[in-house]
Amino acid sequence: MATEKFLPTAYGLETKAETLAYYEAWAATYDTEIGDENRYAQPERCTHALVTSGVGPGVRILDVGCGSGLSGVALARGGYSSIDGCDLSPAMLALAGDTGAYGHLFEADLNEDLDIADGAYGAATAVGVFSFGHIRADALREVLRVVRPGGIVVVGLNDHFWDEGSMSAELDAVEADGAATVAFREHGEHLPAAGIEGWVITLRKTGAS
Ligand SMILES: C[S@@+](CC[C@H](N)C(=O)[O-])C[C@H]1O[C@@H](n2cnc3c(N)ncnc32)[C@H](O)[C@@H]1O
Repeated sequence: MATEKFLPTAYGLETKAETLAYYEAWAATYDTEIGDENRYAQPERCTHALVTSGVGPGVRILDVGCGSGLSGVALARGGYSSIDGCDLSPAMLALAGDTGAYGHLFEADLNEDLDIADGAYGAATAVGVFSFGHIRADALREVLRVVRPGGIVVVGLNDHFWDEGSMSAELDAVEADGAATVAFREHGEHLPAAGIEGWVITLRKTGAS
């Protein structure tokens, strides 16, 4: 029997309940469908953005929406050794635990406040997480809150959600009110075997480095 494919419906998700059920069902085959069959490029691209932003290997990183851990594995391969992860889906978190890339892993809804102190992390990554029915663009404020002043947030997202417009509006707002500056943005591969491209955006939180 053919394995069910989930990517074709990824951009039609709307509610938290739908998204949670979707990833709980997809977890077992996510790495094969996204990583192997569609050659997911964002984990490596986002890791490269962190490295070129000057984030050192020992910096404490929070990988928000870490999923099954493809993003954390790429960070670990890039030399990072202090990576925590959080996600909505327990099944995805369990797989992330199996990778060995993460220290602390915990369940969290990024559209709500995180139980994390201001500035607890030196950097954060959000790889494939800002999207339809996933994390709203305004959750960027909460991700910035848990990063220290001068710290880096790297966001990797697909063209479909970029074209929806809320992310570019949020980036403009964040810059206009002085919360962070966009240090780098680059268009390129997202899921190349599916013909989907996307953006990598690097923000530096305002304040002392
Ligand atoms: C496309 S996967 C990306 C996972 C991983 N970062 C990667 O690059 O493979 C999106 C992840 O976002 C998580 N997610 C969706 N909505 C979320 C929310 N509101 N809060 C936290 N995680 C969420 C899903 O459970 C899923 O694991």
